[in-house]
Amino acid sequence: MKNIKDLMEMKHDGIKLSMVTAYDYPSAKQVEAAGIDTILVGDSLGMTVLGYESTVSVTLEDMIHHARAVRRGAPETFVVVDMPFGSVGASMQDDMKNAIKLYRTTHAQAIKIEGQHFELIRKCQQIGIPVVSHLGLTPQSVGIMGYSVQAQSEETARQLMNDAKRAEAAGAVMLVLEAIPSDLAALISQTLTIPVIGIGAGIDTDGQVLVYHDVLQYGTERKPKFVKIYGDFSTGVQSLKQFHEEVRNGQFPDETYTYQIKVLGEHND
Ligand code: KIV
Ligand code: NA
Repeated sequence: MKNIKDLMEMKHDGIKLSMVTAYDYPSAKQVEAAGIDTILVGDSLGMTVLGYESTVSVTLEDMIHHARAVRRGAPETFVVVDMPFGSVGASMQDDMKNAIKLYRTTHAQAIKIEGQHFELIRKCQQIGIPVVSHLGLTPQSVGIMGYSVQAQSEETARQLMNDAKRAEAAGAVMLVLEAIPSDLAALISQTLTIPVIGIGAGIDTDGQVLVYHDVLQYGTERKPKFVKIYGDFSTGVQSLKQFHEEVRNGQFPDETYTYQIKVLGEHND
């Protein structure tokens, strides 16, 4: 399994990092089998596998439940798990309790925290919890910022650069930048020592992350500009329709799928 030092070295050597989300045992197994560098158990699971409107509904228990399944499916991959909405920001004591619980119960390699919680990042770092910072578009704040591209003015761009530096100074081991202008993402990636993983942040970050269900068209209709589709799980619907029809018209199961073993005699009535 790669560790934080390996990921730092990859940045140093100019080797781009791949990250894909996973939410359960089979998706984690596939992501690991594909040789993806890191897995994110994202709170996007609220939409992709739980059917919520946004990530705001996702609980700490949800994250733990899914992350543990991911861990079983991908025992050899660096796993990052999201701190969900409400598990951060209430008070330092509650935040720390939640961070410790998530880290300890999931056996993830790092937790990810959205937004400007630099003191929390520092406290986690001090007790040994690796933290990935997530800045730019932070979907847990959808009620305030919506889903629009962030840091589009000079002032907000400077602010983001400053936040990125503060996250690194606080001890963050990686940074995720979501939905920001590519030039700014490039500059932040050059400025920081830690790996910067982009989503909707252009090609010049140190790595890229995409959502499993977006990449594979698996039960998702949303397609932000930054999503590239690499596969088609949507054909599952067609396959299930066929199963349904074959059951209805008595085609399934034919003898191929049947145990034809005589256990009772010819005259057993
Ligand atoms: O939850 C998630 O999938 C994420 C990525 C989009 C970075 O946080
Ligand atoms: Na997330």
